[in-house]
Amino acid sequence: TLSHRHLFVPATDPGRPPLLLLHGTGGDESDLVPLGRAVAPGAALLSPRGAVLEQGRPRFFRRLAEGVFDEADVERRAHDLADFIDEAQARYGLAAPVALGFSNGANIAAALLWLRPEVLAGAVLLRPMVPLARPPSGRLEGRPVLILSGSADPIVPAENAARLAERLTEAGAALTHRTLPAGHGPTQRDLDLTTEWLAAH
Ligand code: MLT
Repeated sequence: TLSHRHLFVPATDPGRPPLLLLHGTGGDESDLVPLGRAVAPGAALLSPRGAVLEQGRPRFFRRLAEGVFDEADVERRAHDLADFIDEAQARYGLAAPVALGFSNGANIAAALLWLRPEVLAGAVLLRPMVPLARPPSGRLEGRPVLILSGSADPIVPAENAARLAERLTEAGAALTHRTLPAGHGPTQRDLDLTTEWLAAH
């Protein structure tokens, strides 16, 4: 068995890269499957459950408070998740996936880009934050990354999202950052932009 509880949906359109679905706090591996199907019809979907529990709610790493991360745990969990992606690629015969993460899932996807960028072909980050204080350790070699922020997001300060975009660009990502008139939750516009971006990358 693989190291993370997960859900796998095989591709029906082998031309599309697999999507790695990463849920928000309190979600699970089935949460983002409808979203994945909607934004990337026919793509294989690999959807792990966050291995950390916060008062019974699954997450991908520990935090000290909302928006204040346990950085040692972020690093450890990012490496565990990267190892799971390697295992799942071998098990299911997958190409490197594009991550699609929301909130806490977007933050662990950002941590993967920081620490183990080779496991991802690209990433869509919905309402992410800077995952680690130190700059990314790897080079992103032109990997495409879409960041969608909300101008009225009560959890993610605009300055933090801008700093994330800057760090990833400095590390070599081909970055698109859009700020939508939205709060923390994803909107129809997020879905539309994600669908367009995935079709183009
Ligand atoms: C996090 O802990 O990753 C962020 O605060 C987002 C969240 O999960 O609410």
